[in-house]
Amino acid sequence: MDLLEHQARDLFAAHGVPVPRGRVAATPDEARAAAVDLGGAVVVKAQVKTGGRGKAGGVKLAAGPDDAARIADEILGMDLKGHRVHRVLVTEASDIADEYYVSYLLDRADRTFLAMASAAGGMDIEEVAATRPEALVKVPIDLRVGVDLVRARRIAAAARLPVEAAGVLVRLWDVFTAEDATLVEVNPLARTRGGEIVALDGKVTLDDNAAFRHPGHRAFAEADTGDPLEQQAAEQGLNYVKLDGDIGVIGNGAGLVMSTLDVVAAAAQDAGAVGPANFLDIGGGASAEIMSAGLGVILGDPAVRSVFVNVFGGITACDAVADGIVKALALLGDRATKPLVVRLDGNNVAEGRRILDEAAHPLVTVVATMDDAAREAAKLAAGTEG
Ligand SMILES: Nc1ncnc2c1ncn2[C@@H]1O[C@H](COP(=O)(O)OP(=O)(O)OP(=O)(O)O)[C@@H](O)[C@H]1O
Ligand SMILES: [Mg+2]
Repeated sequence: MDLLEHQARDLFAAHGVPVPRGRVAATPDEARAAAVDLGGAVVVKAQVKTGGRGKAGGVKLAAGPDDAARIADEILGMDLKGHRVHRVLVTEASDIADEYYVSYLLDRADRTFLAMASAAGGMDIEEVAATRPEALVKVPIDLRVGVDLVRARRIAAAARLPVEAAGVLVRLWDVFTAEDATLVEVNPLARTRGGEIVALDGKVTLDDNAAFRHPGHRAFAEADTGDPLEQQAAEQGLNYVKLDGDIGVIGNGAGLVMSTLDVVAAAAQDAGAVGPANFLDIGGGASAEIMSAGLGVILGDPAVRSVFVNVFGGITACDAVADGIVKALALLGDRATKPLVVRLDGNNVAEGRRILDEAAHPLVTVVATMDDAAREAAKLAAGTEG
């Protein structure tokens, strides 16, 4: 689970990492009140789970309370790379002398934990890594010894960070291990003109496999104001990810769904449609209930213009899946409004196709191959057929 900046900030504070004072606001009035409390200049920051907020206009300096309210009004409701801003963090403005980059992460390729640090913080770290790789120091961390003050000083020195940053590096390592994170990133870690080291921005990814050890982390998920369709899908236990296209996709098995997305993207390009509208894996047991829950979520997406159901019958054979589709459409009734292209193959395929033929639902077209079905769904979405 990725955390919002203000949630990461709360974890930092709990582990003694210095952060600027701040408050979350959901309205311009709340932002004004926060600025009154904090006093002086403040920074108003969009709370969304996407990078590059500053460049996209989601991080702005406000001179005082009225300015904070005006800027909050601008930022709230903004769409930042497909993420709607529901809340802003109002923090006291720091008097920055220098900005650094520091992070701990799980390096899967090298099967180790890694500390990364750079004196070129604040800006796009991917760009630093690409254009000046020598400016980004990478140090493997031995989990058995972790990061103590001696090791932290070595990391700071290698990256040309001031020695005072070492204490913060130790505390951030504590956040990383004690909270079971797979990423803790601070960009920028700033040195103020007064000589203090403060974490001005934080990104944390928690390891969901360790969630059972952290009942306190549940509040982070509950506060999630993510995509409403993703939320609806999660409540129904569906494996759904919202994408930007117009062709709904349902399949069984993550691998099949991934390759379906590729085929649909290519077909969409040829037909003048946008592309896949979602990832949805209904898994092994494609029952009528799961099928109707999945179709319900997809049909609730106003961007969807056609749906491609791509199922390979295995343990759950094609006839059971066909049955599921027919019953799902009956369950959905008037809510089923968009054309469905169905491709069935595998175990008991003939019986599955017979069931769909017999039901002869006006919205359903059965197509024999995955490529042809993707083309048909793309044409329907582009409105060049049907
Ligand atoms: N509390 C603060 N006081 C002064 N300046 C700040 C403060 N917070 C952020 N800034 C300035 O704004 C810049 C961008 O802020 P921040 O790092 O939070 O957003 P971002 O990096 O654009 O977002 P993302 O992390 O999503 O890419 C910082 O590099 C810093 O110069
Ligand atoms: Mg940042």
